[in-house]
Amino acid sequence: MIHADFAVRHAGQLATMMPSAGDPLGCIRDGALAAHEGRVVWIGHDGELDAQVDLDGDQLDAAGACVIPGLVDAHTHPVFAGSRADEFAERLGGAEYQAQQSGERGIVRTVQATRQADPAALLALAEARANRFLANGTTTIEAKTGYGLDLPTEAKSFDVLRHLSARTPLRIIPTFLGAHVVPPTIDRAAYVRALMEEMLPAFKAQAVFCDAWCEKPAFTPSETRAILGRAKTLGYQLRIHAAQLAPGEGPEIAAELGARSADHLEFATPAQVKALAFAGTVAVLCPAANFTTRGPRPPIEAMRDAGLPMAIASDLNPGTSNSESLPHAMSLACVAWGMTPRESLLGATVHAARSLGLEGFAGCLQPGSFADCILLDVETPEAIPYYVGVNRVLQTVAGGVVWRPS
Ligand code: NIG
Ligand code: FE
Repeated sequence: MIHADFAVRHAGQLATMMPSAGDPLGCIRDGALAAHEGRVVWIGHDGELDAQVDLDGDQLDAAGACVIPGLVDAHTHPVFAGSRADEFAERLGGAEYQAQQSGERGIVRTVQATRQADPAALLALAEARANRFLANGTTTIEAKTGYGLDLPTEAKSFDVLRHLSARTPLRIIPTFLGAHVVPPTIDRAAYVRALMEEMLPAFKAQAVFCDAWCEKPAFTPSETRAILGRAKTLGYQLRIHAAQLAPGEGPEIAAELGARSADHLEFATPAQVKALAFAGTVAVLCPAANFTTRGPRPPIEAMRDAGLPMAIASDLNPGTSNSESLPHAMSLACVAWGMTPRESLLGATVHAARSLGLEGFAGCLQPGSFADCILLDVETPEAIPYYVGVNRVLQTVAGGVVWRPS
């Protein structure tokens, strides 16, 4: 008998996301799973559970609801203070996002609000965001700093992420995004030097990834190569914001340096897409940011043809995407970009997990994986994006424990 301390029973369809003969989603009808100490230990047909599992703990009856792995959000900026709702409204009146990134506006404005915020207030904001992620079915996020852009405020942002991890069952994978933009009141060369000589070494112990935005109004290709090259030498894994607003060298740099992910990619060329696929990089696409900035669609067909895995992320941030909802991002990816519902589901689970180095552990359900799953009021897992802008998540389970909003 397999010993378990938690089980989910009677899933109408349980999508393991482990491809099986003829079914890329690995669906089990009337499925069940059992967990022990936060990991899945058994998965199969509900009728077989009693004979194989010795359960000493809670059972959650899915009562025919669909069960899928907890969603994985591979691109989020959850540590920030202040609002930019007025800039959103200005864009509706015709202003361009890029033009809003000058003077005391745009990202710089969020940096100022974040520098001024006291740590408890910043933590409370981040915790509210964590609760919204969980409510919308996300159990793992990649979380960037990048609204501090000086040593003390980037350190404060990492402290927030660490305290947040202790308070929420949401899994948080920290990324250092000191190379978000050049902050005001310091010249470019001095900031790049501070990044490479002070900040990158200082935050190595606290971050898994280092990210940089390679594009106007942020960093040039040569600055990006220097920053990410140094990060790699120090042992960071790499991500990059690239080709979001205009064509550029960012995607090549990602491929060259073996980044885990290249993100946005609206303007990636077919050759860049091939290079990313060859390098084993994952494309992390951000449909909600694309939606509010009214960008062109990324080259989905070229990505498909090249076999480049496409993850879908919320890109939660105050400027381009104030949303913790991956199901909503999946709807946009399908309706606005022509991705299939299946591609969008793989994008918010398996491919997102791969971009975080969590393949086999998150975004899928199998013995040994995290016992993170969600119950959904949908006909089939592929119907998730069909429900537009409404939350069909009934329950979220993280680490073998049912999450209850606090
Ligand atoms: O992913 N591209 C850069 N960073 C964010 C936007 C940040 C902001 O506007 O505050 C993004 O879209
Ligand atoms: Fe971003």
